[in-house]
Amino acid sequence: MSKALALVAVLFFVAFCGECYGELRFGFYKGKCGITDVEVVVRDVVKIWHITKREKDIAAALLRMQFHDCFVNGCDASILLDGNNSEKKALPNSSVRGYPLIDAIKEALEERCKGLVSCADIISMAARDAVVLSGGKWYNVETGRKDGKVSLASNVNLPSPSISVSDSIKVFGNKNLSSTDMVYLLGGHTVGNTHCSLIQDRIYNFNNTGVHDPTMSQWLFSELKNKCPRVASNNVDNPIPLDMKSPSFVDNSFFQEIQKGNGVLKIDQQLALDGLTKKIVGDIVKDPNFYTKFGEAMVKLGRVEVLTDGQGEVRTSCRVVNKKSFFFGLFN
Ligand code: HEM
Repeated sequence: MSKALALVAVLFFVAFCGECYGELRFGFYKGKCGITDVEVVVRDVVKIWHITKREKDIAAALLRMQFHDCFVNGCDASILLDGNNSEKKALPNSSVRGYPLIDAIKEALEERCKGLVSCADIISMAARDAVVLSGGKWYNVETGRKDGKVSLASNVNLPSPSISVSDSIKVFGNKNLSSTDMVYLLGGHTVGNTHCSLIQDRIYNFNNTGVHDPTMSQWLFSELKNKCPRVASNNVDNPIPLDMKSPSFVDNSFFQEIQKGNGVLKIDQQLALDGLTKKIVGDIVKDPNFYTKFGEAMVKLGRVEVLTDGQGEVRTSCRVVNKKSFFFGLFN
């Protein structure tokens, strides 16, 4: 290629791809599956599962799945790989759900365009669609990720619910996410549940004081005491909504609740109290563009350490690496 031609190509790329991350871009699959619109196929399957309730609280399942995938080895669908010692077997992933829904989407896409759409892209598109079905607003999702071939439980190093705000900022910073991104993303706790076992110490023995976390409102304290008795009967670990006021809707009520002392996880409550994030929370509560910003933060989450062409593959089943690359890996 002549120098002039190369320069034109670079200028074209810069002009039309101001914020491209490798092959990652909006509409990567446009026109690549004949008359089929890949994003519509994904949306239709998510919609059917949502309406028929084949998976409850789909938005909660998929938001968490995307976070747990992207924070371990990048957004490469490594969380989906089956195996005795794969990421999904690690303790922090034990309550991650939504795998059969991803399988159903993959199947629908493989029927139409074999080997085209990566599982990593399916997670981000499906999470967005589920957000919209749960009261959130549409955001464009970048696509063009490839799927990883490695998934090890020992790589799973996710933040604990009692992480401090400053440590959490560091963890998100390591993934190129700002503290504002972090606060918006923790707003994912506007849907879904936790379990008594993870908050028992906040209710009964905070920091070994023998009493509840003093940052908790009286209202939340009595709610949690009822739902999580000190001595749990017959091993039942009740699901506890992370956003006690509107647990099934993607909205900014989570931020209003944490301002009132109704944050269920310690990290959620601390966001509203710590000097590093308190103002961000206050701004979000008043922000008329909350949904847009939440979507933007999800897009940034979707950029974490992505694999693009030459670095990964498009799996034909989201649960296993492709045979060719498996054998190739054995002899390499
Ligand atoms: C410092 C960061 C984070 C911590 C410490 C954290 C911690 C947790 C914990 C402990 C649970 C409850 C799990 C259980 O009881 O089984 C949970 C649930 C959840 N998390 Fe996070 N999380 C973080 C960030 C995020 C992010 C960034 C998102 C998404 C954007 C997210 C989305 C969710 C959702 C939707 C649920 C509910 C899942 C369900 O109902 O199945 N979390 N998180």
